[in-house]
Amino acid sequence: MMMKSIMPVLSVQDVRKHFTLHLRSGQALPVLHGVSLDVHAGECVALVGASGQGKSTLIKCLYGSYGVDSGRILFASEQGGAPVDLAQAQAQQVLDLRRRELAYVSQFLRALPRVGALDVVAERLLQADPLLLSGQVDDAGWQAAQLTARARVAELFARLNLPEAIWDLPPATFSGGEQQRVNIARGFVQPARLLLLDEPTASLDAMNRRVVIEMIAAAKAAGTAIVGIFHDEEVREAVASRCVALPPAAQPERILV
Ligand SMILES: Nc1ncnc2c1ncn2[C@@H]1O[C@H](COP(=O)(O)OP(=O)(O)O)[C@@H](O)[C@H]1O
Ligand SMILES: [Mg+2]
Repeated sequence: MMMKSIMPVLSVQDVRKHFTLHLRSGQALPVLHGVSLDVHAGECVALVGASGQGKSTLIKCLYGSYGVDSGRILFASEQGGAPVDLAQAQAQQVLDLRRRELAYVSQFLRALPRVGALDVVAERLLQADPLLLSGQVDDAGWQAAQLTARARVAELFARLNLPEAIWDLPPATFSGGEQQRVNIARGFVQPARLLLLDEPTASLDAMNRRVVIEMIAAAKAAGTAIVGIFHDEEVREAVASRCVALPPAAQPERILV
């Protein structure tokens, strides 16, 4: 049995968030009503709750895409030192963490015009390579790194049963399931300390769902902390260490009116 390290990779503490609906004369839509949860290395926490309860919103907060009204999102970086509050961090610090430590598989692929699928994913490896980042690499070094990265992505694409004929085509015209597999490859190709998964298997067939279940199990075994939304019960049961339900609105307004 694996020993749990004492300090969680992620500690979400009483996070509250609302959206302001500008099309509705600035009406406030409260979405997260005090979410707290800890995630340790090697654990996969599944967020559960009805549609519209704020699961995807919370995932985006954890990725540093959204600010919060109050509360903390403490991330213990592999660099050590005090945990970083992702809810307060500077954009540059969030971008640096995303390079090597945070990975996110969103429901939708960010469209990158004219870049082939294989390079979309290989880029994730190249931008995390410390040697390339150092700027000390000549053209031949770049080419070698690119070849190695492309070979690793090719392996992953084959495993995800993406037809080889489309590997070098831009994913914009791919089917939903093909785009999702490119997205999954991008999220998993570079080992992360915290992996965020928003319905990663929603458009996949049974065979590819099984591949993703295996990939999640391998990430857990490698010590990645995972927070995910898994619509598919079979997938959730296979991968989740535990489930966390988002607390519903306290609705004090109802009492006051
Ligand atoms: N960017 C946004 N601006 C305004 N409202 C939003 C935004 N994103 C999500 N919402 C609203 O917040 C609520 C929670 O959405 P979401 O987090 O996507 O829920 P879930 O993933 O649990 O289905 C929904 O009512 C949704 O319409
Ligand atoms: Mg959602």
